[in-house]
Amino acid sequence: MSSILIRNIKSLYGIRDSGARTVKGEELRKLPSIDNAYLLVENGLIKSFGKNAEAPENADEIIDATGKFVFPCWCDSHTHIVYAGSRETEFVNRIEGLSYEEIAKKGGGILNSAKRLAGASEEELFDAAWLRLAEMQNFGTGAVEIKSGYGLSYDGELKMLRVIKKLKEKSKLTIKANFLGAHAYPAEFKQNHRGYLDILIQQLLPKIADEGLADFIDVFCDRGFFSPEETDEILQAGAKYNLQAKIHANELDYSGGIEVGVKNKALSVDHLEFTGDAQVNALKDSITMPTLLPSTAFFLGLQYAPARKMIDSGLPVAIATDYNPGSSPSGNMPFVIALACIKMKMLPEEAINAATLNPAYAMGVEQQLGSITVGKKANMFITKPMSSLAYLPYSFGSNLVERVFI
Ligand code: NIG
Ligand code: FE
Repeated sequence: MSSILIRNIKSLYGIRDSGARTVKGEELRKLPSIDNAYLLVENGLIKSFGKNAEAPENADEIIDATGKFVFPCWCDSHTHIVYAGSRETEFVNRIEGLSYEEIAKKGGGILNSAKRLAGASEEELFDAAWLRLAEMQNFGTGAVEIKSGYGLSYDGELKMLRVIKKLKEKSKLTIKANFLGAHAYPAEFKQNHRGYLDILIQQLLPKIADEGLADFIDVFCDRGFFSPEETDEILQAGAKYNLQAKIHANELDYSGGIEVGVKNKALSVDHLEFTGDAQVNALKDSITMPTLLPSTAFFLGLQYAPARKMIDSGLPVAIATDYNPGSSPSGNMPFVIALACIKMKMLPEEAINAATLNPAYAMGVEQQLGSITVGKKANMFITKPMSSLAYLPYSFGSNLVERVFI
């Protein structure tokens, strides 16, 4: 048995009882906390917490957190961190005036990453993703969802998913795998959508299920990518193999993605830059977590998703990094939280709920992670000395995370 006691915590944030699964609407403004707190961890699980005066005397390791805060780790419920090479040429192309869609139409974008991935070995992909995970952990992230989607062929998608499986086995972080074969049509299937859909549905899905390579299924349902009808067909096929949907929707237009996601009981619909009243209504009373990716809007110069409209309508929201080489080459969750506050007008408490319990739900791990709750995994971090909660997003660009426990 091993135990860690953290004492003299200035504030312990994100306290929830075990029944809490999501936080929505007005509740998002509350981030329950205890000032002058202690936290005891035993065998990797949260054993107890409370006022410092009630702290136990002994533990294998005792840490003094005077002046510092403790938070549950971030859950990053939307990433594409298995990739080869980088795409800064497209970054410069955008500075010169091309749009993300124009670059994609010219064979850049996702197809550019697919070309690079085809030339990379599983070992090379693993090593690069491993470094990205370590970097994310340093920013306080304790759980990561990782998508395929740069393979875009039978062999390529399996290669990516096997790399994700190995990351799951080797990393202490909690990792979920999402099959995103429907990320873009490969050039040779541009005029033959049926041909590619058949590869995804007839060939890849049975193999993925057989090898246990994915937890979720994803589709990029947007203008110029997959239609709502194609998305519906792919999600229904995935459901037959028990893969719950988590999809890309409404990044480039009112694509019908939110509606088709809700219809298919998606665990989350992600991006949502184009969300109007009809889409908000579709999300109400659904089980689907609206997930916003503000660093993508920042990096591509898109409009931001209307977070205030969603929250003020009573919805929950999650935020994630979308870490990928094309539209968000960063796994920095504190920066995403700062953007949520600065650009989407979320309060610090709302942004932190949106980065912890809600994304834990969006990756199906809310019973184990996402809050300070007795019995949950002790994935948490201690900050550097800080004056208040709002200081975290206020000091954007700094890393105030001092020590991470996984
Ligand atoms: O979430 N929108 C679709 N997919 C990714 C971008 C992938 C890429 O450009 O490589 C995203 O932004
Ligand atoms: Fe994405």
